[in-house]
Amino acid sequence: MEKILSLTPRQIVAELDKYIIGQHDAKRNVAIALRNRIRRLMVKTDIQKDIVPNNILMIGSTGVGKTEIARRLAKVAHAPFTKVEASKFTEVGYVGRDVESMVRDLVEQSVALVREQKNESVKEKAAEAVEELILDILIPPVKSAGFTRAIPADTEESEPSNDAELNERTRERFREKLRDGELDERKIEISVKAGSPMGVGMIGNGMMDDASMAGLQDMISNMMPKKVKKRKVSISEARKILLEEEMSKLVDFEEVKEEAIKLAENNGIIFIDEIDKIASKSGKNGGGPDVSREGVQRDLLPIVEGSAVNTKYGVINTDHVLFIAAGAFHVAKPSDLIPELQGRFPIRVELQSLTQEDFSRILREPKNALTKQYQALFESEEVYLEFNDESIEEIARLAFLINQEVENIGARRLHTVMSHLLNDFLFEVPDTITANSKIMVTKEMVQDRLSSLVQNRDLSQYIL
Ligand SMILES: Nc1ncnc2c1ncn2[C@@H]1O[C@H](COP(=O)(O)OP(=O)(O)OP(=O)(O)O)[C@@H](O)[C@H]1O
Ligand SMILES: [Mg+2]
Repeated sequence: MEKILSLTPRQIVAELDKYIIGQHDAKRNVAIALRNRIRRLMVKTDIQKDIVPNNILMIGSTGVGKTEIARRLAKVAHAPFTKVEASKFTEVGYVGRDVESMVRDLVEQSVALVREQKNESVKEKAAEAVEELILDILIPPVKSAGFTRAIPADTEESEPSNDAELNERTRERFREKLRDGELDERKIEISVKAGSPMGVGMIGNGMMDDASMAGLQDMISNMMPKKVKKRKVSISEARKILLEEEMSKLVDFEEVKEEAIKLAENNGIIFIDEIDKIASKSGKNGGGPDVSREGVQRDLLPIVEGSAVNTKYGVINTDHVLFIAAGAFHVAKPSDLIPELQGRFPIRVELQSLTQEDFSRILREPKNALTKQYQALFESEEVYLEFNDESIEEIARLAFLINQEVENIGARRLHTVMSHLLNDFLFEVPDTITANSKIMVTKEMVQDRLSSLVQNRDLSQYIL
């Protein structure tokens, strides 16, 4: 929390710069929105309640980084984040148009975040307990065993203590082996609770109200006696299973729920993609689908405006959730949204189309740049992949060209081009391209493999 509190808008942009090339306007605006929420939380007076987030509408064609910015922003903010496609709510057969489900998703994410945090804080303690548990299974402690064997009260004390000493020494020896991972493969029998509560919660993605459905399932699963099942597993697996169990014993779930709701309320980000798909030119064709689109917008309104939504973890208020909507708006315009909804997204940012130079930077610079990803894949088999500068320029040039000629899918084109370029190598490692080989990607190689495709428009439509 401390670290997030101290992130200034400039620092937020700098964080985003590590992953996203260009789009400065969008970055600036999301950074301001993020900082404003921190500012709001520091406001001491009553006005705090009245400060609503400035929801953002991102406008830009496909593959220019809209989703990526929102996703990275959530990471930077350690904020619960969820993404929905607005068009999903207009699909035929999608019953009930349960727009509240996005809020429930958000809370679900928030619970996961908080739980993870809490788990982390008790992990060490839990791991110690697990070590003892496993040792108990390997070498049952002598004391308890002794008692159950009912040693006569007047036996000499030295004997059991010798036993205990021996036992303790063996335990210590095994403890060391355990820590060194020497016993990881060994099988032991542990008792696990059958039917994890998580599994039960998953069934309810149906048509009826999800929250009550999930609540019902929780109730049912709580009513059922918890079965304990014996399972034979390797020690390394036992460690994982037992660790989960011990951590959940140490973490107070009521506290998790409460904190998760608060976190979602104050820091949650909901990303509504393809919002242009629910905008409709009013008046033009007042037919069926338009009615349903407008209906979806009306359904969205109360949530974006702020309302209480019931979830299985409690009631969440969406007043301060940050909404980021995005769309290409090629056909519909933002002004085709119903006025109330337009008003709820006061900040408009336009994302720029990516240039060829952007492409070559995207290939190289982001922390997760495609070239780095492929290098890592090859390196896992000790094959070293290198790109010279000219080859990167050439890939960018061809990707840009194909976007122009065939269809503009933005930076996504780089993925298809790269995979086509490297597929043969990926297939040959490690059979014919063995460990310690080096692959140098050059401009000639790129041309060799790709230009025939680029020239053949029909072919590239299918392959690239
Ligand atoms: N400006 C950028 N810098 C770095 N990578 C980018 C950029 N724009 C797009 N990408 C890459 O392209 C891919 C697609 O981008 P993203 O999902 O953000 O597209 P989008 O704008 O949301 O498109 P759509 O409208 O189709 O949802 C991402 O995986 C990302 O790695
Ligand atoms: Mg997207």
